[in-house]
Amino acid sequence: MKNTRFDNTGKRILNFSAGPGLMPATVLATAAAEMSTFSQGHSLMELSHRSAPFEKLLEETEVSFRRLLNIPSNYKVLFMQGGATLQFSCIALNLCAGANAGTKADYIVTGAWSQKGHEEAVRLLGSDRVNLVVNTKSSKHNGDIPPLSTWNFSDKQSFVFYCDNETVHGVEFGSKFPFHAIAKDVPIVCDMSSSILSQPVDVSKFGLIFAGAQKNMGPAGVTVVIVREDLLVASYKYPQPFPLMLDYSTYATSHSMHNTPPTYPIYLCGLVFKWLETKIGGLIEMEKINAAKAACLYEAIENSNGFYSCPVKKDYRSRMNVTFLVKGDFEKEFLAEAEKNGMIQLAGHRSVGGVRASLYNAMPLDGVQALVSFMKEFASARF
Ligand SMILES: Cc1ncc(COP(=O)(O)O)c(C=O)c1O
Repeated sequence: MKNTRFDNTGKRILNFSAGPGLMPATVLATAAAEMSTFSQGHSLMELSHRSAPFEKLLEETEVSFRRLLNIPSNYKVLFMQGGATLQFSCIALNLCAGANAGTKADYIVTGAWSQKGHEEAVRLLGSDRVNLVVNTKSSKHNGDIPPLSTWNFSDKQSFVFYCDNETVHGVEFGSKFPFHAIAKDVPIVCDMSSSILSQPVDVSKFGLIFAGAQKNMGPAGVTVVIVREDLLVASYKYPQPFPLMLDYSTYATSHSMHNTPPTYPIYLCGLVFKWLETKIGGLIEMEKINAAKAACLYEAIENSNGFYSCPVKKDYRSRMNVTFLVKGDFEKEFLAEAEKNGMIQLAGHRSVGGVRASLYNAMPLDGVQALVSFMKEFASARF
């Protein structure tokens, strides 16, 4: 699937946005064709969320998502709003084991997003209920993750939180996360916003996984939560009442229909899930494509004789967000030239600068190859 796009002059445009990110072109084409006539001559946007067509769509979307990730039947899938950021609050409120004094929420901080998760937990629960297991801030979150023997886990943990893929810094755990170091009865909570559906995952290792849709699933506006059913009981929750719409049970008991869910973003996610199943062939195939894309770009960086350099340690380099620096003061020129050549949204996050190429599922391998060709030409003209 090439996902080839052109601007109105016929130039190919490659979108490396970190999110909201690239969507599969076939998904957009289907959405465009169905935009005004999804059912009974009406747009999906105009249908009640209680209507039979939407209820069927929600059901099918969840079934497809469960199939893709092979989600066990003792996990609920919730469709929420408020972005991944709201999940930082929800996790602290729903899983802090409020009635079991003495437990601490353990946070593993390896980049900007786990740092934000940790800050929100401290704000809501207080610093005496939250523990920092490890923090790579002093090495600028460059993937220099200290050895496990130095990690400072709490004695009584309510949960362990980490971010699978740090979108800003380009640091990814993937299968290198030390699951074995965490006791089986301690829920592992994972922010998978920028890596979900990029490869198969053993959901049964987690208590809760959450992800904003706008990188690998669909447009902004819906956040998907996968939560093990036994964690929804009152004894895990914050001891004082907190807003109903932040309580996972509200969504679990109503099939995410306590109020109006984000119907159109859910519909688009459903189309993306279908694309993954039918056009890509599932997550094992997706994983291969993603590995090939990342290898292609990292190789080009490594083989550039230092013109490009990746600040992230090799073991934890992200397959989804490849961050790199351009030698000397060529960075601005690189970004401007790239844009002239149709390669857009390559600037690094405003907090860290540099270049960041996001290679989400919808970015085809030949798009990455085109970026690599451009990088080689740019470098050779300046060496
Ligand atoms: C890993 C990760 N977590 C959380 C967020 C915050 O997501 P949102 O803007 O949907 O709240 C982002 C956004 O880029 C992210 O990449």
